[in-house]
Amino acid sequence: MKRRRVLQLGAVLGGGLLRAGELGRPLGPYGERSPFEKAVRWRRESKTPEAGSSFTPLADSYGILTPSALHYERHHGGVPAIDPARHRLILQGMVERPLILTVGEIKRLPSVSRIYVVECGGNSGGEWGAKTAPDVQRSHGLVSCSEWTGVPLKLLFEEVGVRAGASWIIAEGADAGRVQRSIPIAKAMDDMLLAYGQNGEALRPEQGYPLRLIVPGWEGATHIKWLQRIVVADQPYQSRDETSKYTDLMPDGKARQFTFVMEAKSVVTFPSGGQTLPGPGLYELTGLAWSGRGRIERVEVTSDGGRSWQAAQLQEPRLRLAWVRFRLPWRWDGKETVIASRSIDETGYVQPSREALTAVRGTNSGFHYNGIKLWKVGADGRVTNVEA
Ligand code: CO
Repeated sequence: MKRRRVLQLGAVLGGGLLRAGELGRPLGPYGERSPFEKAVRWRRESKTPEAGSSFTPLADSYGILTPSALHYERHHGGVPAIDPARHRLILQGMVERPLILTVGEIKRLPSVSRIYVVECGGNSGGEWGAKTAPDVQRSHGLVSCSEWTGVPLKLLFEEVGVRAGASWIIAEGADAGRVQRSIPIAKAMDDMLLAYGQNGEALRPEQGYPLRLIVPGWEGATHIKWLQRIVVADQPYQSRDETSKYTDLMPDGKARQFTFVMEAKSVVTFPSGGQTLPGPGLYELTGLAWSGRGRIERVEVTSDGGRSWQAAQLQEPRLRLAWVRFRLPWRWDGKETVIASRSIDETGYVQPSREALTAVRGTNSGFHYNGIKLWKVGADGRVTNVEA
């Protein structure tokens, strides 16, 4: 088989490049990344930093997992410091046997580990309007993907015995915001997790330590962190966080409520806003795709402003409701162009253009934006947002 020389790499191997084997630092009890690695969460300026959000640096991520320390944050009352030995989970309402569980008791139950995306309902919400975010972190960084470990919620409901007529659960956090969300009980019995583990260790405090809900494929605000109570009911609570917030304003002035599923989406992370290509040549174009309705079947990429679309290579295994990494070799000719990706999920749903999306939803929706994201590559190699 004839090998083609793909990379036109510059440096010629010479002497004097290798370092002598100096003695390094001793072993440490808990690892840290290299001091040369600088990627951090970006925090949106807020008058009340306890009720703000911070964004995952998507362009600096590899593969499909977000390091726990870089998982996006969205809090409504700061990060509580909870001693797991004193924490309790209460299950009450329309159940035969109300329960109070310790974290230790929960950890003794049969567990599972699953890789799932968590995405804020407001992720890429800026794209409804002026699209001023200079980079993919700020435009799309309210999404992350982790391996979560915990107990299927179904197991707990079988334990407490759900009464006839129950149709919703109301989950409540122990944070100062006392965030409450109503969730149809069918979802709880399907695939919801009561999670205590993330990426092989305990949840981070900002991810809900010691207990949080995972609601696969549904908007982030339903994944209640610092979970302290689940009430089984026959109707939703109409809580503050599902009336004043997390509703989607439509063009006719009415608002959609209880829009839970995060529809199929994708975004190119290289090249993306704020980056500069050093010159024409071969690059690996890459990005992330996910769908709240299941598995990503296909991702198509354009590098000529939408005139032609090409199927990208998808990293296997393609997990349901998890990130799918896509990649495509791309030769840049040095001319100005526009690049974008669109994802198609297992239901056949195709990620819409911004125009198609806003034609139905208007531009004041705030939440659930999943339009195709365009990046402009300038002749000077600078990558910027494409203005609306
Ligand atoms: Co919603």
